[in-house]
Amino acid sequence: MQVSNVTAVVLAAGSGRRVGSDIPKQFLDLGGKPMIFRCLDVFEACPMVQAVVVALPAGDESRRPDLSGHTKVTSVVAGGQTRQASLGKALSHLPRSAGTVLVHDAARPLVDQPLILSLLAALDGCDGAIPAIPLEDTVKRVAEDRTVESEVDREGIWRVQTPQVFRRAALEDSLAKAVESGLESTDCSQMLTRAGYTVRVVEGDPLNFKVTRAADLWLAEQILVSRREEE
Ligand code: CTP
Ligand code: MG
Repeated sequence: MQVSNVTAVVLAAGSGRRVGSDIPKQFLDLGGKPMIFRCLDVFEACPMVQAVVVALPAGDESRRPDLSGHTKVTSVVAGGQTRQASLGKALSHLPRSAGTVLVHDAARPLVDQPLILSLLAALDGCDGAIPAIPLEDTVKRVAEDRTVESEVDREGIWRVQTPQVFRRAALEDSLAKAVESGLESTDCSQMLTRAGYTVRVVEGDPLNFKVTRAADLWLAEQILVSRREEE
């Protein structure tokens, strides 16, 4: 099956509570532009991506960056209370022609085009493709009182990232089934595997980490500075 007409969905409707800033993290300056522009610029430059749908926090429009310079953005929608709800709202604004959907967290600003291309190539013959990294640290189950309860065998355990790419029909069907059964997930591919679709894993990029806490923001800034020095 060919990969047809890719629309990127950028999830940027969270509040960034754990970063602890007074504006949502995706709007914070990161190396001279709002964090959300980092992924939007990559999609803008990627010939495989035809359109972009962005989910932003509902309300207070004055704090939103101006997205008019990003010509592939076809819709800006108000997100929901959860990541899955924001995804649902974005999916209802997909262009009619979109056959493939790429879902990305605006909180992963260091995504690059080679990763997108390898994901789209991996979609051949399956319903979804996701980037992930095998776990390298020792994993333990820890009790509430901070004593070690048990070891967790890390063999075959991978950490999942975005972007994730899906056949549109499979994604829409999986989301409808999740909503119907009242299941909530922060990972789209979980909805697909639950609904019986096949999802393939490609090697993720360690630099494509999610900015979750203030230290991640600092790290992303350092990486951008060192890239600029290399140029
Ligand atoms: N997201 C969203 N809608 C929500 C919640 C999250 O679109 N209701 C998006 C975030 O903007 C982010 C991505 O989903 O790009 C991953 O979520 P996370 O890292 O948890 O971001 P936040 O929810 O904003 O952060 P926190 O959980 O610390 O509040
Ligand atoms: Mg969150």
